[in-house]
Amino acid sequence: MAAQFSIKDIVRPNILALKPYRCARDDYSSGVLLDANENAYGPALSPSSEATAATSGLDINRYPDPHQHDLKNLIAKFRNVPGPEHFFLGVGSDEVIDMIFRVFCVPAKDAVLITPPTYGMYSVCAQINDVQVHKASLTLDGQFQLNVDEIERQIEAHPNIKVIFLCSPGNPTGSALTHESIRRVLTLPNYKGIVAVDEAYVDFIDSSKEGTTATWVKEYPNLIVMQTMSKSFGLAGVRLGVAITTPEIASYMNATKAPYNIASTTSRIAQEALQPKGLDILQKHIAVMVQERTRLLEAFKSINGLGRVLGTNDANFILVEVLNKEGKPCNDRAFNMYTDMAKRQGLVVRFRGTELGCEGCLRITVGTPEENDVVIKLLTEQLSS
Ligand SMILES: Cc1ncc(COP(=O)(O)O)c(C=O)c1O
Repeated sequence: MAAQFSIKDIVRPNILALKPYRCARDDYSSGVLLDANENAYGPALSPSSEATAATSGLDINRYPDPHQHDLKNLIAKFRNVPGPEHFFLGVGSDEVIDMIFRVFCVPAKDAVLITPPTYGMYSVCAQINDVQVHKASLTLDGQFQLNVDEIERQIEAHPNIKVIFLCSPGNPTGSALTHESIRRVLTLPNYKGIVAVDEAYVDFIDSSKEGTTATWVKEYPNLIVMQTMSKSFGLAGVRLGVAITTPEIASYMNATKAPYNIASTTSRIAQEALQPKGLDILQKHIAVMVQERTRLLEAFKSINGLGRVLGTNDANFILVEVLNKEGKPCNDRAFNMYTDMAKRQGLVVRFRGTELGCEGCLRITVGTPEENDVVIKLLTEQLSS
């Protein structure tokens, strides 16, 4: 446990003092409901429309449940975490990231630490919230692991750091961080702030390796684990992000959120995905994706002009170098390929060559077997010219 951690010292004073919005529905949720200025006549939808059929039984003329206990219980069971009191649910994990800034970081005063190359939203949210960003880069040996000594130096140099964002598996690196290194960050002797572990891609880690840290929230008072239904569950359009943390931290995040942030439709679809049938499909999709990832990795080895695959391939994408004629990673060639494939051939991947340690890199999401055939074909064609 981080020796000096005290939640009251790191939550923003205005959030500590916050009297959350309360509605009559917090106390009474059935009967003749004329408390919330909803439309008792029902939605402006034709009774025979597809939207009416898809939302049958949902009462979408009513505000959704502000607490989402049923959904939280299902996620808790799936992730082996005690109960709903450990959760904050957001409109994607992008809302979870923003909520962490709003609860902990005083604008124009506090700072966060990120470990580049990493997910861009931590810096974007920092800028939106007027919070400084300090950096301790991942190891640039192709493994993209934490440099804990550098993190410690940054913490000591900048005592205003309130949150350390770790991404495991990383984006764009695809590397899961070792549990040992995450534990070291959680217990840094001179650090009093939060460690937020972004596990958007955690379900794609091979089962022979270390997986989620979500169950650690019983052990560490300063840990927030972020997950999402956008990736392994295939529900990016539904927008459901999850923070798993201590009941105390969750209570501050829940007090700060907009009262009805999770739509009834989002909740219903997410709950269905967490039933045994949904979880069965989830496992099947993950298994195929892992097989296809292996197939792409094998195929990339024999495409002339591709260099190293960076990272440890623990996510649903591959980060691969494009080489020039001299065999060196080359941003110009990678960028030209990226634009040419998108404009002329309709294949959209992501150019990541300007990220730290990713020179010449394209990040390619693992698609369906047919889509992956297209990837192999077009990369081969592009690099043979
Ligand atoms: C590491 C990481 N975290 C969070 C997100 C955002 O996920 P969501 O769709 O839940 O907002 C992404 C999306 O690409 C991501 O790569």
